[in-house]
Amino acid sequence: MERTLVILKPDCVQRRLIGRVIQRFEDKGFTISGMKLMRIPRDLAEKHYAVHRDKPFYAGLLKHVTSGPVVLLVLQGSRCIEVVRTLMGQTFGYEASPGTIRGDLGLSRTLNLVHGSDSAESASAEISLYFADDELQDQETAGTEWIQKDDEV
Ligand code: RTP
Ligand code: MG
Repeated sequence: MERTLVILKPDCVQRRLIGRVIQRFEDKGFTISGMKLMRIPRDLAEKHYAVHRDKPFYAGLLKHVTSGPVVLLVLQGSRCIEVVRTLMGQTFGYEASPGTIRGDLGLSRTLNLVHGSDSAESASAEISLYFADDELQDQETAGTEWIQKDDEV
C-alpha cells in the first residue's frame, strides 16, 4: 500500500489546527500509519529540503520549519501521494483553491500549514528520515475496504 509523509508545520501547530487538518485526511479515507510531535533539528531539515538549498526562499523555509514543534504523519492508502497533494492545494495560500487545506486556512507563501511528499521516491526517502520501520503500523483502519475499493479489485 502506498505511503506518504505529511508534516503539519509550526504555523499549523501554533494555530491549533492539528485536529482539523488531520480530520481532513481521515475523512478522505487514509490510515495513519505513523505519527509524532517533534521539533525538527536543523540538520534533518537541511536533508529534507536539500533540493531547495539554492532557492531564494531556502533560508526562510528552514527557519520556519525548525521554529517550533511539528506533527509528522505517515499516511497510507490508495494513491495517497497524489491525493494528499490535491487536498493540500497549491503551494501559496493566496493561490490555493477553496476547499483545499491551504486554500481554506492560509494566505502565506512560507506559512502554508502542511508539507506532503511529491513523488514515490521522495515519500520513501522522507519517511525514513523521520521514522524507524518499527514506528510504522501496517494494519489498515476498519472500513478501508469500503472506501478505496476499485472495480478491478
Ligand atoms: P512542500 O514541499 O512544503 O510540501 O510544499 P510544495 O511542494 O507545495 O512547495 P515547494 O516548491 O516544494 O516549496 C517548499 C516550501 O518552501 C516554501 N516556499 N516559499 N517564498 C517563496 O517563494 C516560497 N516558495 C516556496 C513553502 O513553505 C513551500 O511549502
Ligand atoms: Mg515540495
